[in-house]
Amino acid sequence: MLFGSNFVLNKCREVNAFTLYPWVHSWINLRSFSHQIEAVTFPDVNPADLPASANFSMAAGDFLDVYTEPESWHCVATVFFIDTAHNIISYIETIWKILKPGGYWVNMGPLLYHFAEVPNEHSIELSYEEVRSIILKFGFEFEKEELSVKSTYTQNVHSMLTYQYNSVFFVVRKPL
Ligand SMILES: C[S@@+](CC[C@H](N)C(=O)[O-])C[C@H]1O[C@@H](n2cnc3c(N)ncnc32)[C@H](O)[C@@H]1O
Repeated sequence: MLFGSNFVLNKCREVNAFTLYPWVHSWINLRSFSHQIEAVTFPDVNPADLPASANFSMAAGDFLDVYTEPESWHCVATVFFIDTAHNIISYIETIWKILKPGGYWVNMGPLLYHFAEVPNEHSIELSYEEVRSIILKFGFEFEKEELSVKSTYTQNVHSMLTYQYNSVFFVVRKPL
């Protein structure tokens, strides 16, 4: 993902300049051969169009190490991300710490804990109910919450086998 994002952010200078065939090696669950050789083009926007004055940066590293400055962000958006933690409570703690008072945390995604079944890895796997109660214990206030947002992730939409997540979407606020 880092190689990919480096290429898009630093090397792409034109919309739809490149073509990929993401499903070309997949021979199963095809309704039509045309789906196997379907092309996608990228980037959908030109990163170079970003105004020079834009406050945009990209940081590579562990979320817990990279984002440490207290009360420095107006908003944190996590998309299919919070389940990448060894300890989801430390992610919540970090988001609470780095948000300014009045700041928002917007989240969307499932709880497919990445380390759940990885040998020799420690992992805390809480239900959403438990995650929610910890979010409240930190002091966040819920502004919006949808518990079963039908969502997919990186898959061939034409395939005869697709996964669908019932993702959680929420917006919480650190009080002023
Ligand atoms: C499931 S992907 C979601 C990516 C993107 N938000 C999306 O919706 O397509 C999870 C992302 O979290 C990143 N990630 C995993 N563990 C991380 C950590 N400890 N610190 C920072 N990023 C991490 C991975 O590199 C990956 O880009």
